[in-house]
Amino acid sequence: MNSGKEAILVTGACGQLGTELVGELRKIYGEGQVLATDMKPSENQVFDSGPFQTLNVLDKKGLQEIVERFRPTQIYHLAAILSAAAERNPTLAWDVNIAGFMNVLDVAKSAPSKVYKVYAPSSIAVFGPHTPRRDTPQHTITDPTTVYGITKLVGERLSDYYFAQYQLDVRSIRYPGLISYKTPPGGGTTDYAVEIFHKVLTDRKYVSFLGPDTPLPMMYMPDALRGTLELMEAPAEKLTIRSSYNMAAMCFTPHELAEEIKRQFGEFEMGYSPDFRQHIADSWPASLDDTQARLDWGWLPRFGLKEMVADMLKNIRLPARV
Ligand code: SER
Repeated sequence: MNSGKEAILVTGACGQLGTELVGELRKIYGEGQVLATDMKPSENQVFDSGPFQTLNVLDKKGLQEIVERFRPTQIYHLAAILSAAAERNPTLAWDVNIAGFMNVLDVAKSAPSKVYKVYAPSSIAVFGPHTPRRDTPQHTITDPTTVYGITKLVGERLSDYYFAQYQLDVRSIRYPGLISYKTPPGGGTTDYAVEIFHKVLTDRKYVSFLGPDTPLPMMYMPDALRGTLELMEAPAEKLTIRSSYNMAAMCFTPHELAEEIKRQFGEFEMGYSPDFRQHIADSWPASLDDTQARLDWGWLPRFGLKEMVADMLKNIRLPARV
C-alpha cells in the first residue's frame, strides 16, 4: 500500500479529534494514504474519502496485520477513554489507554517497514491537586486523582521510555479541553464547553455540570489541529520533550463562556448543577505555561475566547451538511 510516500494510520479516528484530523491528513498526504480505523465504522461522510477499517486497539494481532499490510510511516494513536467515561469504567480505561497504547508502541517499534513517527496525545488530566494551578509549568508535580489522568501519565512515561530505549520518535501534546462543532466530544470533563453551544441554539438555555467559577484551559479545534500537525512536522532534533508538551490557547470559566455567548448571540438561561465532574475539574490546572512548545516548535495559538465563540456560533448555525 505504501508506495514510497507517507502512509498514515489513525486509531480512534471517529472521535472528536480523529474525525477532523483524518480530513486534514488526507488533504496533506492524499486520500488513499490515510487509513482511518476505529472500533465501529462511522456514518460520517468524512471517512468515505479514503480507506477505513475497524480496529480494536486491544487486538494486537489485528493491529499487526494492518501495519504489515498498510505499512504506515506514521501512526496517530487517538483511541482512548476520556476522563468522565473512565471514572465510570476504570478497568476499560486502563485496558484501552495503557494496554492499547503498549500495543501501538510495540507494533510500531518492531514493524518490518519502518514507522518513523508516532503521535499519542496526553492531557491536562496528568496534573493533580498539588500541581500549581495557574501557569502550570511543563515540569511540575503530576499527581492525578482520576483513572484517566493516571493512564495518561503512564502513557507519557512510556512515550519517553520508548524514545530513549528504542529511538521510537513518539510525539505528544497535553491537550486542554477541545472545542469543536463537527463531532461531539465523548465523555470528557470539558464537554460542557461544546454542549452549551448546541443547547443555547436549540433551547435557549443550558445547565452546566460544572459550577460557574471553574476555570479550565481550553482550545479551539483549528488551533489543536494546526498545533498537532506542526509538532509532527517539526525536526526531531528540535524537540526537547518526549513525554508530552503543554500547549495552551485560552482559559475561561462556565460563567465567562456564558457571558461571551450572551454578548454575541443574545440572552439565554444559564443554570448550574455540578456533578462528579466538578471534582475532576477542581483537580486540574486553570492555565498552562507552554513556553517549551513555543520555543521548540514555534507553537502560537490563534483563537481566544471571543474568536472561538464567534466561529462556533457561525458554524453551528449553518444547516447540517449531509
Ligand atoms: N477533554 C478531556 C477530558 O475532559 C481532557 O483531556 O477528559
